[in-house]
Amino acid sequence: MFAAHRMSSPFAYSRSFSQIQYQTSEASKLNKRKSKVTIHMASSLDGFIAKKDGDVSWLRSTDLYEPGITLTEEAIKDFLEGIDCYVMGSKTYEHALELGWPYGETPVVVLTSRQRKAERETVEFYAGDLPKLINRLRGKHNHIWMAGGAMLTKEFIRLKLANKLCISIMPIILGDGILFFDFVGSEQQLHLEDVTAYKDGMVELSYEILSD
Ligand SMILES: NC(=O)c1ccc[n+]([C@@H]2O[C@H](COP(=O)([O-])OP(=O)(O)OC[C@H]3O[C@@H](n4cnc5c(N)ncnc54)[C@H](OP(=O)(O)O)[C@@H]3O)[C@@H](O)[C@H]2O)c1
Repeated sequence: MFAAHRMSSPFAYSRSFSQIQYQTSEASKLNKRKSKVTIHMASSLDGFIAKKDGDVSWLRSTDLYEPGITLTEEAIKDFLEGIDCYVMGSKTYEHALELGWPYGETPVVVLTSRQRKAERETVEFYAGDLPKLINRLRGKHNHIWMAGGAMLTKEFIRLKLANKLCISIMPIILGDGILFFDFVGSEQQLHLEDVTAYKDGMVELSYEILSD
């Protein structure tokens, strides 16, 4: 996702946050109606978020797109401060632990059906009703970030739990791997909010998911 996490960890897909709007901490009065749930993932042009074996090293692009923008560390830091809570599937969580924790001290909710002990104090494990969980988190946090992976993305889209969707397309065709999402079962209208091209050839598309 974006240079911030790319600098601080091999989770290159945690970058390119800067163009997404977020509420400042001053404006962070709890407000269920205004709270934002963003799905953000980096993908190959052919729609894969990881290779079959989970490899994401291809997220480090060596392409050069001269007119593209480069994120500053300050912009990334500011952006990350606007995220109040991360939600992710257990595989993404395990991968993050392996590659280097990119989420700092921000609360993280990990979906898993397994009984397990958290490796970090900021981590909560959850099994059960997903809409109930998101409703609870929306009552507490202004900006909830769904960090992946594919299984959870599909559930979030199918259950209409997110109102923002961001995809960072890397300049690569993988040919095979784990798909971003597929077969969510219903048509959903999107509003294109922003398009940003980066110097390393990544293009980020930011959408609002329109409610029915
Ligand atoms: N390119 C990117 O931007 C990006 C972003 C994130 C992740 N990734 C990559 O994607 C891969 C992981 O994606 P994935 O789709 O295989 O896995 P995932 O979505 O990260 O995790 C799937 C797991 O989450 C748990 N889970 C999902 N829904 C649940 C529910 N409703 N209730 C309880 N548990 C639930 C289950 O864990 P249990 O088996 O423990 O029950 C399930 O096996 C990794 O390689 C990761 O590096 C890429």
